[in-house]
Amino acid sequence: MYKVLITDPLSDQGIEKLLQAEDVQVVRKTGLSPDELQLEIETADALMVRSQTRVTAELIEKARRLKVIARAGVGVDNIDVPAATRKGIVVVNAPDGNTISTAEHTFAMLISLSRNIPQAYRSLLAGEWRRKDFVGVELNKKTLSIIGLGRIGAELAKRAKAFRMNVVAYDPYLSDERAEKLGVKKASFEEAVAAGDYISVHTPLTKETRHLINRDTFALMKDGVRILNCARGGIIDEEALYEAIQSGKVAGAALDVFEQEPPGDHPLLTLPQVIATPHLGASTVEAQENVAIDVSEEVLHILRGEPFKNA
Ligand code: NAD
Ligand code: MLT
Repeated sequence: MYKVLITDPLSDQGIEKLLQAEDVQVVRKTGLSPDELQLEIETADALMVRSQTRVTAELIEKARRLKVIARAGVGVDNIDVPAATRKGIVVVNAPDGNTISTAEHTFAMLISLSRNIPQAYRSLLAGEWRRKDFVGVELNKKTLSIIGLGRIGAELAKRAKAFRMNVVAYDPYLSDERAEKLGVKKASFEEAVAAGDYISVHTPLTKETRHLINRDTFALMKDGVRILNCARGGIIDEEALYEAIQSGKVAGAALDVFEQEPPGDHPLLTLPQVIATPHLGASTVEAQENVAIDVSEEVLHILRGEPFKNA
């Protein structure tokens, strides 16, 4: 029997194949302390996580039988991939199961930010009727700059174009053909940052993209720019964003992700110009089912020594 340890909440429907497999024992334990996790990992053949579990080198060191670590989502920044690779453990993810949900969430944030919907709702619940305070801006003919035109960035571009926005994109791997096909203007990083009425980041979090948006970058932007981050906390320097909002350079920001999650009493959350959600980009029934199905299939293939897609 293979022990498959699941330490973050995953969709029941998504892991059905694992639950039905005769050669698999599924152990679902969420909210484990580091000590409890170390104990469980010792005897696990596979570990399945979302974003909460931090799969550190220290934890990987404790594993005696582990063959695969599966991330039910895109970002593997909560997993020490080099440490896993050194031990011959395969790391797999679900690269496209949550693309649409995250693009839709980003677009929901874009509209909410433009029309002050969360702020106005809060005010209404407080018994107020402040129509003049919540005058918004249209998306029509505005420029959206997308930094990172991968799966989610491209889906966001399609939705923005349907709202008659001009879309500018920076991505070091963006070809002229793909830009043309998506109807976006390909730009350098500096051009994209300077052109946007809205700037939305959709890169992975890596050494290169950490604080990609920083004090110097804010200085290049249009006055009154609006910023979105539904990718990863840390791509935007949060202190620099706070200062840029306070100075009036940035008119508003929509954040789904934070450098530390949960963010606690974060200064950004005290600003009326900031709207935020608790890392909900991929939190739909469909996306959670898709990613859990994808990684469950990969885990079964790897445990059984069969060919698998994603490495
Ligand atoms: P993807 O790999 O399809 O796209 C990422 C793109 O970023 C690629 O096209 C890549 O070329 C580009 N890129 C890499 N370095 C860059 C740089 N320095 N500057 C500009 N572009 C750069 O990934 P995706 O599925 O589109 O996911 C994008 C991000 O969204 C990831 O960080 C992922 O973890 C995150 N994400 C968040 C949620 C959420 O719940 N909020 C859900 C899914 C994904
Ligand atoms: C991802 O990278 O896929 C996201 O963080 C979504 C998630 O797992 O909630």
